[in-house]
Order: sequence, then C-alpha cells, then structure tokens
Amino acid sequence: MGRVNGKKVFITGGAQGLGACFGRMLADEGATVFLTDVNAEGAEKTAAEIAKKHPGKAFSAKHDVTNKDDWEAALAAADKAMGGISVLINNAGVGGWGSIETETLEGWRWTMNIDVDAIFTGTQLAMPYLKKSQPGSIINISSVAGLIASGNMLAYNTAKSAVWMMSKSIALHCASAGYDIRCNSVHPVFTRTPIIDPLVAMGGGGEQGEAKLVRQIPLKRLGEPEDVGYAVLYLASDESRFVTAAEFKIDGGITAQ
Ligand SMILES: NC(=O)c1ccc[n+]([C@@H]2O[C@H](COP(=O)([O-])OP(=O)(O)OC[C@H]3O[C@@H](n4cnc5c(N)ncnc54)[C@H](O)[C@@H]3O)[C@@H](O)[C@H]2O)c1
Repeated sequence: MGRVNGKKVFITGGAQGLGACFGRMLADEGATVFLTDVNAEGAEKTAAEIAKKHPGKAFSAKHDVTNKDDWEAALAAADKAMGGISVLINNAGVGGWGSIETETLEGWRWTMNIDVDAIFTGTQLAMPYLKKSQPGSIINISSVAGLIASGNMLAYNTAKSAVWMMSKSIALHCASAGYDIRCNSVHPVFTRTPIIDPLVAMGGGGEQGEAKLVRQIPLKRLGEPEDVGYAVLYLASDESRFVTAAEFKIDGGITAQ
C-alpha cells in the first residue's frame, strides 16, 4: 500500500519544477495525478513519463490558472479521468522583482492574478468536487517570502502572504461546515527549479550565484524539489488527517533568524 493510495490529485503548474516532482512522488505512492499547466506540452510530457511507470495513473491538460473557463474545463476533465478529485495542489506561481518605488501596477496585477486570485477562483470551483470525494486536502504552495519580506519583492511577498492567510480561512470554513477537507500552506525557501534561475543569475550566475543564496540558509544548501515533495506527500495523505490551517516551512531554518 502506498501512502496516498486511491487519492485523486489535481496539480497546477505541473509541467516542471515542484509541480512535476509532486506528480512523480505522489504517483510513486499510489495516487492518480492530473497535471495542468499553461505549458500544455510540458504537462503532457511529464504526465506521459509518470504514466509510463504507472499506467493509467497520470493525465494532463492545458490550463491557465488565471482563466475561469480553463479551470472549469480542467476540473471537469480531471473528475472524469480520475473518477473524482480528493486533493487540490495550488502550485502554479510566478515571482518577480520590484520595490515600492519600482514595481508597476501591471507587474503587481500580474503577480496577484496568478499567485492569489487564481487560488481563490480555482479552489472555489474545486469545492463541489472535493466535497464529493472526502476526505479531501487542499495544499497551497506559498513561500518563505510569505512569512519574511525583502525590499525588492513587494508583489511576491504580498501575494505569498495572502496565500498563507487564505489557506487558514479556507481551512476554518471547511472545519466549521463539517467537511472532512483540510487546507494547509507550504513555504519553501530557494529550491532548485527554473524559478530561481533569475536569482542565481542576479548573484553572478552558476556556483557563485547559488552560493549567494545558500549563504542565507542555516542548513547551507538549496532546497531540492523532493524536500518540498515530502511535505506535500504528508499533507495529501491521511497521515495528516488532524492537520489543518497550518503552515509548513521547508526552509533550511531561514525563517528562524
Ligand atoms: N523554487 C523555489 O525556490 C520556490 C520557493 C518558494 C515558493 N515556490 C513556489 O512554488 C511554486 C512552483 O514553483 P517552481 O519552483 O516549480 O517554479 P517553475 O517556474 O519551475 O514552475 C512553475 C510552473 O507554473 C506554471 N505557470 C506559470 N503561470 C501559470 C499560469 N498562469 N497558469 C498555469 N500554469 C502557470 C509554469 O508554466 C511552470 O510550469 C510557485 O508557486 C512558486 O512561487 C518556489
């Protein structure tokens, strides 16, 4: 028996990076996964790799999380393909740089739209499916940037902090409504995926760029996608059945400083 046997998991941003890693790890532990991404080709490729190892256990769809029609279509397709949706992982996200003096309204809205509004829209649309497949789990990928700030990450800090608090509100609503649906947030530090490439480049690129990031982390290394994946695996499984409205810092100790 796998740790998430029988779970039906919908993952946004599943083409690469953390989302793809979650898909692989969850399928290895018995789940069926439905990967969506605006990068349809990437999601399809990742799902095909997983399905090669676990036939019939991985699907994909093109899905822009900022588009309500896409959400409706992707959720309906996932429900049909998997026979329900019991876990929603709101993982798709973007990061950008800008301070209170340099951020543009356009940049601010772009970040909020993808990182915050999409989780509101998608989770609201997913609720009827989750209610039908209880016990359910909603896992929102925030960031340490939602807990500690930086002068040049105004929009990202604000967005990821909103994801943190939105998760608690969703969790409390589900609990008071008597649903067996939990909601938690996950807060990774710099983790080795394409999203940190610009940060590494800003620090001089390559090993030098990575070393600049690593210097800030007490455990003195970057996160690996699997480090975050183990938290997601736990939250998707019934092992975490008494855990809701919590935040999981996968951060090498950075937020303790
Ligand atoms: N890697 C890190 O260091 C780190 C740290 C903290 C938090 N996070 C968060 O983890 C999540 C995953 O990031 P990642 O590191 O895998 O980055 P990534 O850039 O490798 O992957 C993000 C994925 O989201 C998809 N995406 C972007 N906009 C989308 C949209 N509008 N609709 C659908 N899909 C869209 C991209 O195509 C991509 O496949 C993000 O929410 C990110 O903010 C990452």
